[in-house]
Amino acid sequence: MGPLVVANWKMNGSEQLLRAVVQEVGGLAEATVVLAVPAPYLSLTKGFGNTQVEWAGQNVHWLKSGAYTGEVSASMLVEMGVGWCLVGHSERRQHFSETDELVLAKTKACLEVGIRPIVCVGESLQERQAGKALEVVSRQLTEVLNGVPRALAPLIVVAYEPVWAIGTGEEASPEIAQEVHEALKRAARCEIEALELRVLYGGSVNADNANALMRMPDVDGVLVGGASLEALGFRQLCAQVAGSV
Ligand code: PGA
Repeated sequence: MGPLVVANWKMNGSEQLLRAVVQEVGGLAEATVVLAVPAPYLSLTKGFGNTQVEWAGQNVHWLKSGAYTGEVSASMLVEMGVGWCLVGHSERRQHFSETDELVLAKTKACLEVGIRPIVCVGESLQERQAGKALEVVSRQLTEVLNGVPRALAPLIVVAYEPVWAIGTGEEASPEIAQEVHEALKRAARCEIEALELRVLYGGSVNADNANALMRMPDVDGVLVGGASLEALGFRQLCAQVAGSV
């Protein structure tokens, strides 16, 4: 499997930017490029025809339907041609009180309809300084792996996103990323034997640091926030990632 680049626009962007980004990266074959754009833009994706780009939701509700104003279900994402969904991003854990329990419920909702969940894990600065980084991320991952049907676990991709590196311009060093990714893969194999977990790194990734991160043996791709909001720069980043294997 080739490297994976996931763009997380958060609550940013426009239809114009979407068109520009698809034009820049839509033909890249050496890496899988997945765009996690705000939900309204997902309704435009079918209009792009035969682009290589794949699509992700940034959030999903855990129930199938009901009186939950403002929410989007996993089957609605499928209907829009969406194949991936971010789950448990630290911004959702922090600002929308998402617990490990909710992250599991959302992961299951995705798996039930064949959406590949990109489960985000990461420690805070305090947790890292207290020497608890590996413990925290392993717990976040095991809570999910423990609760999903084993046969569907290979659909899960994990994104290691240290909270202190998100939007701060201060990325984790390639060595830190490698250490955590290796620990996550080990924790995954303890839960489900022979599970080959793919782990992305996220947190201040840009065209200058992507290559060094990707050279680490256990970094299988990147999750990119701010640097995915400029079409040309994002293409350079994707090209760096594509060329790194
Ligand atoms: P950043 O965001 O690249 O802007 O740090 C990453 C993320 O939150 O997914």
